[in-house]
Amino acid sequence: MTERTNPSDPALVDERIQRLTTDALVTRRGYLKILGVLSGGLAAGNVAVALGAFERRTEGAEVEMVIADDVDAIPVGGEVRFSYPTDNDPAVLLRLEDELFVAYSAVCTHLACEVLWVRDERDLFCPCHDGHFDPSDGAPTAGPPKRPLPEIVLERRGNSIVALREGRIREEH
Ligand code: FES
Repeated sequence: MTERTNPSDPALVDERIQRLTTDALVTRRGYLKILGVLSGGLAAGNVAVALGAFERRTEGAEVEMVIADDVDAIPVGGEVRFSYPTDNDPAVLLRLEDELFVAYSAVCTHLACEVLWVRDERDLFCPCHDGHFDPSDGAPTAGPPKRPLPEIVLERRGNSIVALREGRIREEH
């Protein structure tokens, strides 16, 4: 005859409670460990994104670059897309008048979509959230952007346009 344990035996009940409590602690510990790993990953990701963003936008960069070598090929109201100061920084050169050229970063100052030149409306337009910028100085005119598009300082050299540096001070061309 086999000996059966009484399921209501207080010692057995205590043991079960002890086991359940221990299992729950292990589960909680495991859960906390996962949370810790996830939080660490998120924090590291945030730091990487921040560093990447700072690296990508080199504010005030001084990089000399020919962005148009035949101004006669650019009609008044026309645009030239280029990258400045790095290949990852879209920018736009506009010929607003016969002798007036301006250039800006084409990265919207709201959430970094690329702005478009709408020639007929003389508007730098961001399609992401209907942002608008004044082509004469890069200032936001409508929509969510609050900061102007960073201007790129230009110099006319014969029939070429040269980007000199990023800056807010517009030089006469
Ligand atoms: S990203 Fe340009 S308006 Fe939002």
